[in-house]
Amino acid sequence: GSKFHVLLSHNSYNSKSKTFQVVVVVDNTFLSAYLQRPLELGADVVMYSLTKYMNGHSDVIMGAAVMNDEALYEKLKFLQNAAGIVPSPFDCYLVNRSLKTLAIRMERHKSNSLAIAKYLETNPKVERVLHPGLLSHPQHELAKRQCYGHSGIMSFYLKGGLNESTVFLQSLEVFTLAESLGGYESLAEVPSVMTHASVPAEQRAELGITDNLIRISVGLEDADDLIVDLKQALEKV
Ligand SMILES: Cc1ncc(COP(=O)(O)O)c(C=O)c1O
Repeated sequence: GSKFHVLLSHNSYNSKSKTFQVVVVVDNTFLSAYLQRPLELGADVVMYSLTKYMNGHSDVIMGAAVMNDEALYEKLKFLQNAAGIVPSPFDCYLVNRSLKTLAIRMERHKSNSLAIAKYLETNPKVERVLHPGLLSHPQHELAKRQCYGHSGIMSFYLKGGLNESTVFLQSLEVFTLAESLGGYESLAEVPSVMTHASVPAEQRAELGITDNLIRISVGLEDADDLIVDLKQALEKV
């Protein structure tokens, strides 16, 4: 689309050093600006679905592209103005207001999800837990180097298949069965048949998106209440 045309025209080839300058875009939605700062790590553009953690109250649909290059900013600003991609003043007000509590919300998402990840690793119905804050995660060291912790978005594999996943999700009482993420409320879903159903089956298999993979967005509730809920739902599997 035209957004990518702008970025591509911003790329350049240096014939002397025979190198391309490539515009690096990072989707930082899962971590928020509080837990990772990609511009400081060398990215050219950081994009956010502000709908998620940055707003955090599940009442706005909005996005942002953030950069520190004046020329690229002018190109994207022109495109935004020309295409009329402008959010409403009320949505801007809500996101602006929400950002004032970003730090304490992210700290709670961080501690809740780590407590849950550690609990799930001890449950015999769980095959494997994926959370960068765990020593068992293959990119734990990388996450420690470049992030200030992990948010509430994490996943785990149940022992079993779609039947076990269905029973588990139907048994949850505090977690809501839904696709979104990054809000105050805890959500759970099965990516293979929900968020990632449009990914071709072969690619899903390559990515490890199997029917026993559960994704959760850990909210701001009491960690013990959430663990009790997961425990009782796993007992029904
Ligand atoms: C990582 C990530 N990036 C971008 C988006 C798109 O956001 P939106 O639906 O607000 O356009 C989503 C969710 O939909 C997301 O999870």
